[in-house]
Amino acid sequence: MLDHLIIGFDKALRTVFAPARSIRPVPGDDLPEAALTDEERSDAAALMRVNHCGEICAQALYQGQAVMSRDPVIRRELEQASNEETEHLAWTEQRIAELGGRKSLLNPVWYGGAFALGMLAGKLGDRWNLGFLAETERQVEAHLSGHLARLPADDAKSREIVGQMKIDEARHAETAIGLGAHELPAPAKQLMKLMSRVMTVTAYRL
Ligand SMILES: [Fe+2]
Ligand SMILES: [Fe+2]
Repeated sequence: MLDHLIIGFDKALRTVFAPARSIRPVPGDDLPEAALTDEERSDAAALMRVNHCGEICAQALYQGQAVMSRDPVIRRELEQASNEETEHLAWTEQRIAELGGRKSLLNPVWYGGAFALGMLAGKLGDRWNLGFLAETERQVEAHLSGHLARLPADDAKSREIVGQMKIDEARHAETAIGLGAHELPAPAKQLMKLMSRVMTVTAYRL
């Protein structure tokens, strides 16, 4: 347990402060940069900051989960999803830089909150933990659909990234369900929506 916590802390520092790496090529990396207005560019950068912040939280959730889960099969299965979240982190980070934006100043706070939530869900046992992950992934997928509608129409590079993330998140939800996730009660889902709303609205500005 202590070993896991130390590894977890090391990962936390790296997640928040070190650049993430991607094994897959960054989606849309070969596309040309569109001629965006200043307004469109800063809007796109802010939306990608929100998504980056969401990926920081995803890292924390999966890490909190890994600290708590005792089932080696579940841990191994979720590692693949967790690795893809690291790629999402790298993609959104690169895109923010290309758009001349910056990452959320509150990332350490979001990370800490999500890690605590992941551990809390883990304490309730694997099936609830998986239910929490599945619901998170579903909500992120819906959120990304919203961003595809909101991002500047010409910003194909950001759209490619968000589109691939959306596909990955849907698969992550399927993975968690396949591992035996419980369906969360409606009030829990509502509470999660409310919390992510606070995060997305805040991260758009900060
Ligand atoms: Fe993700
Ligand atoms: Fe995901």
